[in-house]
Amino acid sequence: MSLDAVLSQIDSNLDAAAERLMQLLRIPSISTDPAFAENCQKAADWLVADLQSLGIRAEKRETPGHPMVTGHIDGPGPHLLFYGHYDVQPVDPLDLWDRDPFDPEVQDTSNGKVIRGRGASDDKGQLMTFVEACRAWKAVHGDLPCKLTFLFEGEEESGSPSLVPFMQENAAELKADMALICDTGLFESRVPSIVTMLRGLLGEEITITAADKDLHSGMYGGVSMNPIRVLTKILAGLHDDQGRITVPGFYDGVTELPDDIRSQWQGLAFDHARFLGDVDLSKPAGEQDRTPLEMIWSRPTCDVNGIWGGYTGDGFKTVLPSQAHAKVSFRLVGDQDPHKIRESFRKLVQDALPPDCEVSFIGHGAGTASVTETSSPMFEAARKALSEEWAIPAAYIGCGGSIPIAGHFQEILETTPMLIGFGKDDDQIHSPNEKYDMESFHKGIRSWARILAALS
Ligand code: BES
Ligand code: ZN
Repeated sequence: MSLDAVLSQIDSNLDAAAERLMQLLRIPSISTDPAFAENCQKAADWLVADLQSLGIRAEKRETPGHPMVTGHIDGPGPHLLFYGHYDVQPVDPLDLWDRDPFDPEVQDTSNGKVIRGRGASDDKGQLMTFVEACRAWKAVHGDLPCKLTFLFEGEEESGSPSLVPFMQENAAELKADMALICDTGLFESRVPSIVTMLRGLLGEEITITAADKDLHSGMYGGVSMNPIRVLTKILAGLHDDQGRITVPGFYDGVTELPDDIRSQWQGLAFDHARFLGDVDLSKPAGEQDRTPLEMIWSRPTCDVNGIWGGYTGDGFKTVLPSQAHAKVSFRLVGDQDPHKIRESFRKLVQDALPPDCEVSFIGHGAGTASVTETSSPMFEAARKALSEEWAIPAAYIGCGGSIPIAGHFQEILETTPMLIGFGKDDDQIHSPNEKYDMESFHKGIRSWARILAALS
């Protein structure tokens, strides 16, 4: 089957493909905020209609949370499952955006054309690269080169609460020869890559309560315990001077890198000075005896993602707050057990409380790290296809982020995930002014067309 004709079809229809992506970007499908639930439905409906226009049997499937979208189309082997997520992160702080996050635009920049808007890179633009590759293939050949199943999730950015039950209930329908996930990036924004290691994630929200109400800090200050003082002391103790995390048992299950992976990563010659320099930083802040790539891809972390309490508005208020709050997350690697770490962290906090203070916790998701076995010849075939499209040898890399479904594919469906994506480090995912380079979109679509041909 001719691949060249498909690639030309992609090139000559790029504007129309970008226009379709913009339609999807206009739907504010923020999964974590209940106020946007209707829009998650709308994004799912949009995807169902778009898949149906390709002759794919697509459906919106309700869950206790936001719906899944599934689709099936027959073809010769192998059977590939493609996964992406249509939900996006919240947009705050809105005043740091140059335009309405849900009024996307193609912009000319000094680095070429970009598609600007929330979800452009994470993950609507990425998931559409695969859909557009299928569209071009269908237009040229009338059918698809492989048997395909589609799975689009609407809760990835909020911990995927409905995912495991959905996968368990529909395992027979979803099981495939390989799962393709488009939700990662290029290495150093230019080297095409297949991600083989993802970190897990554990979230904890803490509230420390002291007095039963806010107090005047002149009347009560000094004699009554301030919960912010208690909280900040605990948080400050979570790392030692060497950057190691002090939660008891935290490093249980953290394994050293196998030699072959270590030398592969050394071969990548990661420019950490540039990586940090791009965001106006200079010194790696993790465990001091580790390389920066290790810190990001294969070492665990503990970070305070939010902290609040007392008076934070304009002006000044001499208040002694009744409560102090923080959101803390842990990125996990190897066989670290999120449930044990949660228990140990809660105990550490409990044990550090002075008299008159109480603590309550809210757990926010707990997912383990995942490592992909790449011995299937499909990996080499995909790597070759990627190398041809980008004219740079594709690399096997790690990823500091978390994509919960990657581990579930292996555990629940016994289907190996192949993680390929085209995001760049400066896409500003989860931040104001998110963008996706037109190059990522265009070459991403072309990459999938080549990969489909290579795997078929
Ligand atoms: N697409 C990202 C994962 C990612 C992050 C890939 C960085 C490449 C570089 C994904 O949508 C994401 O942000 N995941 C969350 C998961 C969480 C909310 C369960 C993450 O990693 O924080
Ligand atoms: Zn994503």
